[in-house]
Order: sequence, then structure tokens, then C-alpha cells
Amino acid sequence: MTRVFSGVKPTGHLTLGNYLGAMRQWAAVDQHRSDALFCVVDLHALTVDHDPARLRRLSRQAASLLLAAGLDPELCTLFVQSHVDEHARLSYVLECVATDGEMRRMIQYKEKAARERERGGSVRLSLLTYPVLMAADILAYGTDEVPVGHDQTQHVELARDLAVRFNQRYGHTFVVPRATSPAVAARVMNLLEPTSKMGKSDDVGPGIVYLLDEPDVARKKVMRAVTDSGREVVYDREERPGLANLLEILAACAGGDPAELAGKYDSYGALKKDTAEAVVEVLRPVQRRHQELCADPGYVEGVLREGAEKARGMARPTVDAAYRAIGLLPPG
Ligand code: TYM
Repeated sequence: MTRVFSGVKPTGHLTLGNYLGAMRQWAAVDQHRSDALFCVVDLHALTVDHDPARLRRLSRQAASLLLAAGLDPELCTLFVQSHVDEHARLSYVLECVATDGEMRRMIQYKEKAARERERGGSVRLSLLTYPVLMAADILAYGTDEVPVGHDQTQHVELARDLAVRFNQRYGHTFVVPRATSPAVAARVMNLLEPTSKMGKSDDVGPGIVYLLDEPDVARKKVMRAVTDSGREVVYDREERPGLANLLEILAACAGGDPAELAGKYDSYGALKKDTAEAVVEVLRPVQRRHQELCADPGYVEGVLREGAEKARGMARPTVDAAYRAIGLLPPG
């Protein structure tokens, strides 16, 4: 059976981008047709400025939202990264296979490091090695497929490169994974800056629809989305990114093809209105279920405890094999 692994980083409140680009697929498709693991990658959240209490809150909330989005612990394994030591254990060994040049070429590193420096802050070393830890997440489980939004494909490519290099040098140890992405909404853009990704840790809150936004708040954000100059509703990602983003969000939420949907509208206002309603309808059941789960924190904790136990058992043999292959002396 295909092994699937993916994760979400609790650095901020989860967004419509996280949902349409990744989580929805995990719940609707991946957990049903594969042996799937989903992870709240809290170690990754330590790579940028963070507040410990907020991180704990966001980690719990992310786990609860993954369940609310439809992940079923009977069908998949849901856990928190720091509960399974194998991720950090493998990451170190992979650091001995990766090069610093490779890390410095990563787009997300360049963007995030530049942002930290602009703010006058310093760049944590872990931000540079972030993709190695992500490779460890993936490779520890013998993962075949990594369902992610487009912003993560370069990181998955790196995991592939490290797997191939390790296997060539030290003998076959890792499965070589590949990224998969949804046909539409693999890159949901910020509603106010449609040339930038809708990212949860961004500062431009009004351009981001959060999964827990009240219906009226979500509606207003969509209605205020920037559209492009020109009157006609056409689907053109290059020339009309704002409009294309709305059409993709509508297609992802209500079904249909963005280019065909464009033909049905003769005004931006009507398109925005329908998109806003479609977004609210998609969020409604997730929010309802999240509310129920908030009333039962013991349930979520239990799911995470069991998930970590299962994940540990799955990762340990591969990580032990990597330690042996690279020449580390097994404990007696
Ligand atoms: P993260 O937490 O930024 O995002 C989680 C998932 O949501 C997708 N996504 C989007 N998709 C479409 N449009 C958007 N605007 C958008 N924003 C986010 C992401 O592509 C991702 O699939 N490094 C990863 C977390 C990670 C991981 C892993 C993923 C750590 N280890 C191992 C897969 C496998 C990240 O920061 O995702």
C-alpha cells in the first residue's frame, strides 16, 4: 500500500490555503487510499521567532483542526513531531549527507531569512537546516507520496535528492518520495497581494482567510479582495492574478474549472459574492466540528498519544537502518 506523509507547521492560525492546498485532500483522498501519516510539525515552528505558550496553543489547535477537517484516526496516523524522537535522530544523519550550498539555494530559506534580517532580527541556524528535518520527516516512514501545496515542492525535491545520495553512498535504505498536489488551489494567493502566497505567518491579516474566521469576517475579506484593472472576467494567472485567485478559490470550494467559471460572470461583484459564500460553506462544517472537539480536549490528546506510539514503531526500523548503514556502531 502506498505510504503517504505530510505535515502542517503550527506557526500561526491555519488558513484557507492550508485547507484547499493540502488538508482537504488528506481527508478526502489520501487517508482512504493509502497508509497515511499526518503530523503537526512543531519542531519546524522553532525555526523562527516564537512564543512558547502560543506554540503550545497553536499545536493543539492545529491537531484539532486536522481532525475537524476530516482526518479519521481509524484511517490514518495523526501525531505531533516532537513526540517522536526519530525525526531529530534522522535529521542529524541527513545533515551529514546534505551540503550548505543546497540549503542556501532553498527559496523559502532565502525569503524567510531576508524577512528576519529586514526586521533587524538574526536568522536561526535551524531555519537553514529546516529542509533537512523535513526530509527526515518524510524519509523516516518510507514515504512514497507527499501531498503538499506548490510552495513545498522544492523541499520534497531535496528529500528525494538526499534519499538517492544516501542510498548510493551507503546502500539502499530509503524509499525515494515524490510530491503530489491538488489540480486547483495548489497555491492560494493573498487576497490583497495576489502575487504572494496566502501564508499563515504573514503580517497582512486582511488578505488571509483563516479557517476559524467567523462567516462575516471571511465574507468581508473575500469581498475586499483586490481585482485587476479591466472589466472582463477572464482566467489569466499571469496578467490577472487577483481574478485568477478568486476563480481558483471558487472552483476549489464549489467545484468546476476556473476558466469555465470565468465565462459565467460578467461582473467582479457577482464573482466575489459567490466566492465568499462558497468559502463560508466550506469552512462551516470544519468550524462546527472544531467547536465540538474544543469541548473534548481529552479526545484530541488521546488521538495524539496513540498516533505518536504508532509513528514511533513505524519510523524506528528505518532510522536504525540508516544509523547502521552510515557506520554508527549499534548499541550492544
Ligand atoms: P505549511 O505549514 O506552511 O503548510 C501546510 C500545507 O499547506 C500547504 N499550503 C498551501 N497550499 C496552497 N496555497 C497556500 N497558500 C498554502 N499555504 C500552505 C503547504 O504546501 C503544505 O502542504 N514545511 C511544511 C511542513 C512540513 C512538511 C513536512 C510537509 C514539515 N515537514 C514533511 C510535508 C512533509 C510547511 O511549512 O507547511
